[in-house]
Amino acid sequence: MILIDGKRTAQEIREELKTDIQKLKDEGKNVPGLVTILVGDDPASKLYVKSKGKACNEIGMRTKTEEMPSDISEKELLNIVESYNNNPDYHGILVQLPLPEHINEDNIIEAISPEKDVDGFHPLSVGKLVTGKDTFRPCTPAGIQELLIRYKIDTKGKHIVVLGRSNIVGKPIANIMLQKKEHANSIITICHSAAPDVSYYTKQADILIAAIGVPEFVKADMVKEGVVVIDVGINRVEDSSKLKGYRLTGDVAFDEVAEKASYITPVPGGVGPMTIAMLLTNTYNAYLKYGEKNGS
Ligand code: GUN
Repeated sequence: MILIDGKRTAQEIREELKTDIQKLKDEGKNVPGLVTILVGDDPASKLYVKSKGKACNEIGMRTKTEEMPSDISEKELLNIVESYNNNPDYHGILVQLPLPEHINEDNIIEAISPEKDVDGFHPLSVGKLVTGKDTFRPCTPAGIQELLIRYKIDTKGKHIVVLGRSNIVGKPIANIMLQKKEHANSIITICHSAAPDVSYYTKQADILIAAIGVPEFVKADMVKEGVVVIDVGINRVEDSSKLKGYRLTGDVAFDEVAEKASYITPVPGGVGPMTIAMLLTNTYNAYLKYGEKNGS
């Protein structure tokens, strides 16, 4: 069994980007920039935004966080997004989700210029992904594909079973791996809560991607020998032996499934760190495209 080390892979990507950005600086060029917009004071969202900002700083990327009160109006938020659509120093715009109830998330996502949509959530980005056009891919699914690439895991003609149909992970990873392209070209099954017998599907998987948010849902008797397991779940479960009173666990019962798997991602340290690495990559690519368009 080979452990897929997402933490190390993410670090490698960050180092690569840091080198690329240093080159731009040495040439006296503008550098890529990411603005994150945080509304309200949800502790988890604050933490995510902080680590995104820190990651940008570490690789020399311009970054800024716009912190807005939870009672900001939709109109005001739209104005802020619009101001960054027109700001040439910021190539990526990320509005941290979820937003407060009184703000329509779709309206905000649709207001982000598709050229700066580094989350890949804009309907135009989604449509382009589904039709196989070049576009921003949502960061977590992009991170999963990157892990498969860097670990040289063959995907052509392989049966990928995706557990979960979310817009952030399940649907986009299915669409990415379905494409008739290198590092994809897979046979896809998306399995979800309406399945009468989930294990009927999971047992067929050459590659199993679990993204349902149920702690240790996938057990050893649900997979075949030699399966590649990608665990996207990050679940808190009570554990009195830990100082914090909980531990993090994935959607896969790691110890028992690892005995049958050829490759497996741990939680934490698997898919998680890849999300930010791909956000940085998307922002860098947005910058390159901006340069192409504007002749610099
Ligand atoms: N909230 C939780 N995950 C994400 C993400 O990937 N992007 C944004 N914008 N908000 C999130």
